[in-house]
Amino acid sequence: MTLILGAGAGVVWYFNDERAKKEKEKEVRRNQSAGAPVLGGPFELVDMDGKTRTDKDFAGKWMLIYFGFTFCPDICPEELIKMTSIIEQLDADPEVGAIVQPLFISVDPTRDTPEKVKVYLKEFHPRLIGLTGSLDQVKAVCKEYRVYFSRPNEEDGDDYLVDHSIIMYFMNPDGKYVAYYGQNSTAEQAVASIKKHIREAKAKQAK
Ligand code: NI
Repeated sequence: MTLILGAGAGVVWYFNDERAKKEKEKEVRRNQSAGAPVLGGPFELVDMDGKTRTDKDFAGKWMLIYFGFTFCPDICPEELIKMTSIIEQLDADPEVGAIVQPLFISVDPTRDTPEKVKVYLKEFHPRLIGLTGSLDQVKAVCKEYRVYFSRPNEEDGDDYLVDHSIIMYFMNPDGKYVAYYGQNSTAEQAVASIKKHIREAKAKQAK
């Protein structure tokens, strides 16, 4: 009896594994044909004034999104300094700057209240819009953007660090993924890439 059960379980496992593999291959093919990974999507978060904001509020704009948290001791401040430099360089070209919306999305919704995010972002660029939300809202947007973030242990109380993906995403006016800039990308490289993509999109539109 044990043997039969075992064999049956093996078949079920094999079947599921094969199916998972096929699904994965299908997804890869889909992504390849689209030319970009399936990343991003609808979100509902809360801005620095406590107002609900969704992806639709930014439709028609290119979005430059950074995920982080205000208590981050070093990496997030560095990345936000970089983001500030990117925005300044983009804004030097009004045709580009005016259509790019920089966003900061918190991965620490428990401590990052709208007020906290507002105060924090004052240190960086005034055009940055900070978004936070409930744990479920943040989890959902991070899932869409495939951003990893660790959750604190109960016993840590209010004193903890959040381990998270360090990444900036550049999304087009349809909310589709265009490019990402990691920790190793410089502000200049990001600016060059952003301008190139916007130029290409405009050239395509003009045709
Ligand atoms: Ni950080």
